[in-house]
Amino acid sequence: MKYRYVIDFMTNPCYMCSRSPRVVPRRDSKTNTRVRVQSQDICEVYCLRDENWDTSCLSFCIVGASGDLAKKKILPALFALYREGMLPSSFKVFGYARSKMTHDEFRSLISSCIKKGDGSENLDEKIDYFLSHCYYQPGQYDAVDDFKVLNSLMSEKEGPVERANRIFYLSIPPHIFTTVASNASTSASSTTGWTRMIVEKPFGRDTDSFRQLSNELYESLQEEQIYRIDHYLGKELIENLTVLRFANLVFEPLWSRDYIRSVQVIFSEDFGTEGRGGYFDSYGIIRDVIQNHLLQIMALFAMEQPASLDSEDIRDEKVKVLKNMKTVAIEDVVLGQYKGHSTPDRTYPGYLDDDTVPQNSNTATFAACAVFIDNPRWDGVPFLLKAGKALGSRVAEIRVQFRHVPGNLYRNKLGIDLDRTTNELVIRIQPDEAIYLKVNNKIPGLGLNIDTTRLDLSYKSRYDAQLPDAYERLILDCVNGDRRLFIRADELEVAWEKFTPVLNEIENRRIQPELYPYGSRGPLGAHYLAAKYRVRWADLADDDI
Ligand code: BG6
Repeated sequence: MKYRYVIDFMTNPCYMCSRSPRVVPRRDSKTNTRVRVQSQDICEVYCLRDENWDTSCLSFCIVGASGDLAKKKILPALFALYREGMLPSSFKVFGYARSKMTHDEFRSLISSCIKKGDGSENLDEKIDYFLSHCYYQPGQYDAVDDFKVLNSLMSEKEGPVERANRIFYLSIPPHIFTTVASNASTSASSTTGWTRMIVEKPFGRDTDSFRQLSNELYESLQEEQIYRIDHYLGKELIENLTVLRFANLVFEPLWSRDYIRSVQVIFSEDFGTEGRGGYFDSYGIIRDVIQNHLLQIMALFAMEQPASLDSEDIRDEKVKVLKNMKTVAIEDVVLGQYKGHSTPDRTYPGYLDDDTVPQNSNTATFAACAVFIDNPRWDGVPFLLKAGKALGSRVAEIRVQFRHVPGNLYRNKLGIDLDRTTNELVIRIQPDEAIYLKVNNKIPGLGLNIDTTRLDLSYKSRYDAQLPDAYERLILDCVNGDRRLFIRADELEVAWEKFTPVLNEIENRRIQPELYPYGSRGPLGAHYLAAKYRVRWADLADDDI
């Protein structure tokens, strides 16, 4: 088993740079045996691709370092990359935020948020080494002088190096994006190497505010320096979407209106805003999840084959899909908001019970919409996008529903509802990553009975590797200057153009969301929406197998 991974790794070229790996498999020094290589798809030289890290160094600065995202995602991802040997040896991590903290306090904060019990070899030593390369600088976001102090600290720790490359991760509220981008760029940019900035959504709240934000960012940064992150693009199964489509003969010919009758992209969470209502309430679920995460998935799913795996070629194809998408119509949108309820064991709070949510808010915590792509491949196929908080389960998946088998020989054996027996391809993004295809199959035995069952690729049972977190992949891509999984300005602009009219209408008409109980399947209206296009939400089908 151990060797299979090594061999896979050794024979497959790196999927990023297409070069055959030059890497020698790691050896366990105690037993002197070869050990399993964790990442099968990228070569170890990948992270050294366009940079000679022997003569240059990497400084990674998190602006907003004491915030939730830094603690939950960015810092653990950085440590994981270091632990996997994916960071250049000269890396340094800097935290910048308003809270007063010493370097040691920052190190304790990091130590409390990185995973410790993963059984890695020499973990304590690795943690100590990583922490010793972490530094903290308190400062105001709007104070140029504070950024100058940060710059001095960075230069001091970088030492006399040929090229000091810097990444700033802006993990801060949107209203200070441009101030921080400008301060960091004018006062703390690298003078010898490159400077990149990772920015988190929300990238505006409609077309106009997006354009304004973009123009303000361009005053201090070039487009090549801006890495707009959508962490869903860094998830394993989303990364695999293009492989599934373009590296398998069997799927691509079916990937069109001729064989597919609907595509559903579904996101559900089994918890509510719980204290995050302040941010959420001014955005709502369409801006928070649908206009970015789900739309990006849809674009990747529906795009034509790009000319190459180059970032610009891929992003060009995504933009074309978005441009061909019809502007979302209010008749094709259903909104919901969760309400509280009690069971004998537990009380579930409603959205309006969250103290951080304004009273009488009619912000949607659930939305479903049907969107259409007006091109020869997808004309007439409903793409149903659904996202909701405080539903019955936490899941994200793509469900591709195929058409009926024409003149089906076995229709009399398939029961009265043929809709339930059509093939379905499910790409489960999380949890329990899997790809499975629902097929009709003869039940073994002497009779001729047919049931619908799965051809199942469950990642847990097939792959013995821990999946990297989306943030690990995306941060590594940024280190390497690979922008394939980051969003280009024109993609976002089109995405906003398609949603802005409906968002305005919802707000101007103060459309009330339909209430649904916390932990339920969401509002009834979503079922009517699917029924309008003669499909069912496949995730809610009682007979889902
Ligand atoms: C974020 C949204 O982008 O994604 C959150 O702002 C949501 O509201 C989160 O909870 C979900 O991410 P994940 O990776 O936990 O599914």
